[in-house]
Amino acid sequence: MSLSIIILAAGQGTRMYSELPKVLHQLAGKSLLEHVHHTASMLETRGIHVIYGYGGDQLIEEHSHLDVDWVEQKEQLGTGHAVKQALPNIPDKDLVLVLYGDVPLITNETLTDLVNAAEETTFSLLTTFVEDPRGYGRIVRNGNDEVSRIVEDKDASNDEKRISEINTGMMVVNGKALKQWVEKLEDNNAQGELYLTDIIEMAVNDGIKVNAVQPYSEVEIRGVNDRAQLAELERYYQLIQAHQLMRRGITIMDPGRFDLRGDLEIDSDCYIDINVILEGRLKIGSGVRIGANCIIKDTVIDDGVEILPNSVIENAVIGKACRIGPFARIRPETVLNENVHIGNFVEIKKSVVGSGSKVNHLSYIGDSEVGTNTNIGAGVITCNYDGANKHKTIIGDNVFIGSDVQLVAPVSVSSGATIAAGTTITKDVAENELALSRTPQKSMSDWKRPEKK
Ligand code: UD1
Ligand code: CA
Repeated sequence: MSLSIIILAAGQGTRMYSELPKVLHQLAGKSLLEHVHHTASMLETRGIHVIYGYGGDQLIEEHSHLDVDWVEQKEQLGTGHAVKQALPNIPDKDLVLVLYGDVPLITNETLTDLVNAAEETTFSLLTTFVEDPRGYGRIVRNGNDEVSRIVEDKDASNDEKRISEINTGMMVVNGKALKQWVEKLEDNNAQGELYLTDIIEMAVNDGIKVNAVQPYSEVEIRGVNDRAQLAELERYYQLIQAHQLMRRGITIMDPGRFDLRGDLEIDSDCYIDINVILEGRLKIGSGVRIGANCIIKDTVIDDGVEILPNSVIENAVIGKACRIGPFARIRPETVLNENVHIGNFVEIKKSVVGSGSKVNHLSYIGDSEVGTNTNIGAGVITCNYDGANKHKTIIGDNVFIGSDVQLVAPVSVSSGATIAAGTTITKDVAENELALSRTPQKSMSDWKRPEKK
């Protein structure tokens, strides 16, 4: 049987107090909706329909990479009304899975169980038992312990309010039947809404058994209604990710202080100290050590690299056995070949550094090509910007650049050249040349310092 999926995402999320539509808020670097979409698309599906309302343009724009059918719900008249908007695009013979865009941690395993349960009876419902059922729809069962209806919190009697089995909202229903029941929904309830949950009783009256299925973990059904709940789910999700990595041979000094906001491919025997943030798409080789407080985004790191504390790296390629930091900043489009050393307070931008070269202290290297085994001394600056345009600096192999040198680009320093400390380079330096520009030192003997009056 084919499966169509509806994701409800039209709610504004009043309690987020945000300009952003709720499902656009991020969990581990991806929007809530992307999490649900990702899990939904692991199922074999004919199509995913997203019901949107508030902030639609922004929602669609930010998710233009997703293959979904966007369905507008102009007014939020209830979950039944929301589902109704997508039904014209769904074939009668499909099973229809209803998911919530603000319940991000639902798993493929649970959804697979839910779909399988619906294949038996044409209707399955994800329920769970909670200590504090306030706010949720309660599952009312008959004398045979079969699901007979759902009563919403606001409509429940005192007895019904004591029921601890709650409706998660997720369900799988036969398309044709769903269409018939949704047509019949009425808003004569405490909230004046079309409740999707009223179809349970209609199904039972039509002689259909509603198969209740439970999730593997309680967090799977937790929704995000405010920023505190978002933060709780974030920590939970980060712990899951950290544990997955540890099981694959990665040492994480403190899984409670680890953040992966993206997709990480990593080999074994890496070591990650506390407060490291990994963002975007990352590929990390084996035996890589990342010190405390590093932030690394969209970067490829080869085997045996050591990144010392407090370094920030973005959109770079780091070759084997490089050593970076502490306090280094590697900016986009930087390529470091093997065995490069980048030390403290060094910034490298859009530059290629050849293997074995060292930039160990307090330098800025931008728009540059540096050859192999070159040594760049403390405080060397490539002056790449003339106030209007950026220019390149080319430095060859085995070059020695003394401390406090400025290289005014465009300029090139050929292999084997030596540049004396304190020099300002404005002209190209030829192979094996020594270049220096220094004001000669003056000495005045027996110098008397001025005295305070
Ligand atoms: C709903 C269920 C309740 C269940 C609870 C689980 C109904 C009537 N009630 O209640 O039984 O225990 O979820 O969290 O279904 N939405 C729309 N359009 C609308 C209304 C809602 O897209 O017109 C979306 C919301 O964005 C949200 C989801 O549907 O993602 C649930 O809506 P919400 O208002 O939170 O439902 P509850 O009243 O909490
Ligand atoms: Ca809710």
